[in-house]
Amino acid sequence: MTPEFILVTPQARPQVALIQLNRPKELNALNLQLMQEVAAALKELDKDPEVRVIVLTGNERAFAAGADIKQMAGRTAIDMLLIDQFSTWDQIRRTTKPLIAAVSGFALGGGCELCMTCDMIVASETAKFGQPEIRIGTMPGAGGTQRLTRAIGKARAMEMVLTGEPMGADEAARHGLVNRVVPVGQYLEEAFRLAASIAKMSPIAARLAKESVNRSFETHLDEGLHFERKNFYMTFASEDQKEGMAAFVEKRPAEFKGR
Ligand code: HXC
Repeated sequence: MTPEFILVTPQARPQVALIQLNRPKELNALNLQLMQEVAAALKELDKDPEVRVIVLTGNERAFAAGADIKQMAGRTAIDMLLIDQFSTWDQIRRTTKPLIAAVSGFALGGGCELCMTCDMIVASETAKFGQPEIRIGTMPGAGGTQRLTRAIGKARAMEMVLTGEPMGADEAARHGLVNRVVPVGQYLEEAFRLAASIAKMSPIAARLAKESVNRSFETHLDEGLHFERKNFYMTFASEDQKEGMAAFVEKRPAEFKGR
């Protein structure tokens, strides 16, 4: 079925797919259907052997201004529980391919949480990251209190979550929340450039390395090192590792096949 609220381009660049959130009038407010469409597209692209890296973007004015407040406003706690929207978010988090958010304008509430669910963020200098839920009587629910705190530290995260005041792109870069900040006309191209540099690598090594970096958030050092070691050994089961090391020795570029 053609999605209604997103645009999907499996080969936006060679081996790089693009998902664009496309509810511009509502500043890409994340209603349930939009999130399901994002999750379904990611699942499909994750299986597509022609795709190695995925870029997720909005438009110049907004990456996303949060969950759809109009859709949520009248719901009870039990409605929210039964709707179980976070199973969709959990599925997004399980994407195995590198996922880059290209962010311009508002990345607020669920929008900030969605770009933090990605592996890397390329920001335009107009990007504004914030968790303003407190201003509408609620709080972050899709990982904001956890991921923002890990990214920028307790004091600054606490201030943002308790005041709702957003953070600009330059400060976000200084704190390590985003990878880089570029002029507004270049944020998508810059994300594609980053994606292309990863798409050249072995997709097997990229997948295992992504999994290992993410594990550092979930476990203690001893267990994380053990996990990393297993994944490191596993790369030696791939043709790509043989090709990569042979290419180095033979002083030629490696050609990775994802096997
Ligand atoms: C529904 C939204 C929306 C949202 C904007 N719109 N954000 N609709 N949900 N989150 C709609 C507006 O109602 C308006 O439509 C249109 O988009 C343009 O927005 P304006 O407010 O007119 O634009 P502007 O004055 O430029 O202000 C931009 C803004 C503001 C500062 C981003 O829109 C805003 O504060 N939005 C809400 C941000 C927020 O609180 N996000 C957190 C949501 S809770 P109409 O038709 O009315 O003109 C959340 C919880 C996540 O995300 C939990 C897990 C999923």
